[in-house]
Amino acid sequence: MQAAANTVQDHMGQMPSEVTPEYKHDPSGKTMKALAWFGTNDLRLVDAPVPDITQDDDVILKVTGTTVCGSDNHLKNGEIMTMQKGDILGHEFMGTVWKVGPKVTKFKIGQRVVAAFQISCGHCEYCQKKLSSFCDNTNNSSLQNYMYGQRDAGFFGYSHFTGGFPGGQAEYVRVPRGEVGLLPLPEDVPDEQALYLSDILPTSYHAVVDTGVEPGDVVGIWGLGPIGLCAARWALLKGAKRVIGIDQVPDRLAFAEAKLGLETINFKEHTDVPKRIYELVPRGLDVAIDCGTFHEPKTTMHKVQKTLMLETDVPETINEMIVSVRKLGRCGLIAAYSGFANGVNIGALMEKGVRLIGNGQAPVLKYWDEILNDYIRTGKFDTSFVVTHRIPLDDIVPFYDIFNKRLAHVEKVFIETQFSNPPSKGFPATTRVKDWDL
Ligand SMILES: NC(=O)c1ccc[n+]([C@@H]2O[C@H](COP(=O)([O-])OP(=O)(O)OC[C@H]3O[C@@H](n4cnc5c(N)ncnc54)[C@H](O)[C@@H]3O)[C@@H](O)[C@H]2O)c1
Ligand SMILES: [Zn+2]
Ligand SMILES: [Zn+2]
Repeated sequence: MQAAANTVQDHMGQMPSEVTPEYKHDPSGKTMKALAWFGTNDLRLVDAPVPDITQDDDVILKVTGTTVCGSDNHLKNGEIMTMQKGDILGHEFMGTVWKVGPKVTKFKIGQRVVAAFQISCGHCEYCQKKLSSFCDNTNNSSLQNYMYGQRDAGFFGYSHFTGGFPGGQAEYVRVPRGEVGLLPLPEDVPDEQALYLSDILPTSYHAVVDTGVEPGDVVGIWGLGPIGLCAARWALLKGAKRVIGIDQVPDRLAFAEAKLGLETINFKEHTDVPKRIYELVPRGLDVAIDCGTFHEPKTTMHKVQKTLMLETDVPETINEMIVSVRKLGRCGLIAAYSGFANGVNIGALMEKGVRLIGNGQAPVLKYWDEILNDYIRTGKFDTSFVVTHRIPLDDIVPFYDIFNKRLAHVEKVFIETQFSNPPSKGFPATTRVKDWDL
């Protein structure tokens, strides 16, 4: 799939973009550790050139914290188009400012910042509304433009479908248009609370706000990874009366019950998920949010269709949600989808008046000030419930495998580099993956 998609992309040429994904190398010739993709299930920690200022508005960060997102699993599993050998991954990271381009006046060297996972121009129609993930000017992918009619912003470390920008699972990273996509951090906010402003906090918040959770609602959350857990927490903060979490990983179900008091459904035990939901909530859910994945079919029909490449994406969760909500209920898709799915229950969608909302990639800039100041600094949202592990960057390759297989009770990880601060109070100490009980 990668070779075919890259060939099509090459043939179509590139769309205009204000930012270039290629970076100049630091003139000293020094190298850094970075996690790079070489093929499906072939990730390697490599020595890569340290980036230098390439465009005048670039910022180069020393990375002080990075992590792995559920979306990175899609890259590892070869489910996202136009990956190329040597691509550096990672779109959730923070750091200190190491170098700034001549046009950058907002940041001082050494300043502590967190990066949005998207690169945005700062002036287009979408950026003016802080809808940074939808920026018109930072993604050169003609393939995405062809498939979707338009294209998203460029994202760090997330294939050439989203611009081909090297990511932040590395010791240094170049942030194009740095003054737009970096948030300065106040001293009172520890790294382990700040890092996740990059992605999972705004993403899960967006899922809840955009799908429209109202006080008194009964909400179903499909998938209890970091995004699902945080979405559940936000739903409760927005006044949801009940939240029901659906997954098959016993650890994750138990974690959601213990940490957030969710009711849960193990879809291995209750294979007919809507039936179980109607037993628990006869009126149906008010809101359903998909925080799962698009490529793990449960039924033989979709296993066969996916294997034969008759569909790229599996609609089982979408169908369960459409059936499980009440008439005029709302369904949000924050889980990443990429292409085409067969057999969507369009009849139920239409006849019940279900509002099916593609939440899109989350516009981080719209929410991060609010999350930082109204929720994190006030203690209303404390990330310590979801950050379960801390490892050195040296362990990132075996970690990917464990996270992808959902082993060792892992939810969200904090990955340290040589530039990191020591662990903060209330957060995990550094451990080595080889010592974990699998
Ligand atoms: N839209 C965005 O901006 C954005 C940003 C970040 C992540 N995401 C997406 O959010 C999703 C979740 O991310 P995560 O980090 O929590 O990932 P994760 O892989 O750790 O968690 C996904 C969970 O979904 C469960 N699951 C899989 N199939 C299911 C099904 N049919 N029914 C119920 N549960 C099912 C898995 O067992 C797993 O526990 C991913 O698809 C990721 O790509 C989207
Ligand atoms: Zn992500
Ligand atoms: Zn823009």
